[in-house]
Amino acid sequence: MTVRKTDELTTKVAEHRTPTYEIEPIFLNRWSPRAYSEQPIDDETLFRIFEAARWAPSSYNLQPWRFIVAKSEEDRSKFLSFIFEGNVTWCKKAPVLAVLVSHTVNSNGEPNHKHAFDAGAAWGYLALQATQLGIYTHAMGGFDREKAREVLQLPAEYEPQIVISLGYYGDPQDLPEALRAREVPSTRRPLSEIVFEGQFGGKMKSL
Ligand SMILES: Cc1cc2nc3c(=O)[nH]c(=O)nc-3n(C[C@H](O)[C@H](O)[C@H](O)COP(=O)(O)O)c2cc1C
Repeated sequence: MTVRKTDELTTKVAEHRTPTYEIEPIFLNRWSPRAYSEQPIDDETLFRIFEAARWAPSSYNLQPWRFIVAKSEEDRSKFLSFIFEGNVTWCKKAPVLAVLVSHTVNSNGEPNHKHAFDAGAAWGYLALQATQLGIYTHAMGGFDREKAREVLQLPAEYEPQIVISLGYYGDPQDLPEALRAREVPSTRRPLSEIVFEGQFGGKMKSL
C-alpha cells in the first residue's frame, strides 16, 4: 500500500517537475502537499528528521534553530489555536506539527542578524531528510505569531519562523475541492532568472 503510494507520488512529481540540469531526485521529490494521512510517525523516524536539521550550517555555528513539537492531541490542538484557519483546514490531519523558532541573539546578547537565514537552512535540511524517509512536510507562515508566543511561552529573544506539518501522504479526495485542485508539485523559475553573471541581472552565457 505504502509502496504503491510512493510510486504514484513519484509519477506525479515526474509529470510536473523537469529539471533543466541533472540533480539528485530528492530535491524534486520534496514538495508540500496538503493531503495528510493520520498514520503516526514513530519517534525514531521523527528524531532522524530533526537530526538532519541539526547538521545545517549557521553563522558562527550559532545553530539558532529550535523546534517545538506537538504530537499529542492536547499539544496539537494548542498549536491549531494559533494557526490560521486556511491552514488548519488541511494541517489538522498531520500527526506532527512543529514550530521552528530562532534565537535572535548570540551568547553575548548581541543581535544575530543571520538567525532567520540559518533557521531556513535547518528547515531545508529537515524537509529533505523527511522526504528521504517517506514523510511529507509543509511549511506555514500563516499563523498568529503573538498568540504562538503566548501559547508556547516563548522567551523574548526567540522569534517564531514557521509551523511545519509532518506526516505520510493521505487521500487528496479528503481535501476541499479548491485545495484538491492545488495538490500538484509546483514548478520553478528558469535558472536564467535567478543566476546572474558579474552584476545583478547580468545574463550568464549559455543559460
Ligand atoms: C516560509 C514559508 C511559508 C509558507 N507558508 C505557507 C502557508 O502559510 N500555507 C501554505 O499552504 N503553504 C505555505 N508555504 C508553502 C509554499 O507555498 C510552498 O513551499 C511553495 O509554493 C513551493 O511549493 P513546494 O514546497 O511544493 O515545492 C510556505 C512555505 C515557506 C517556505
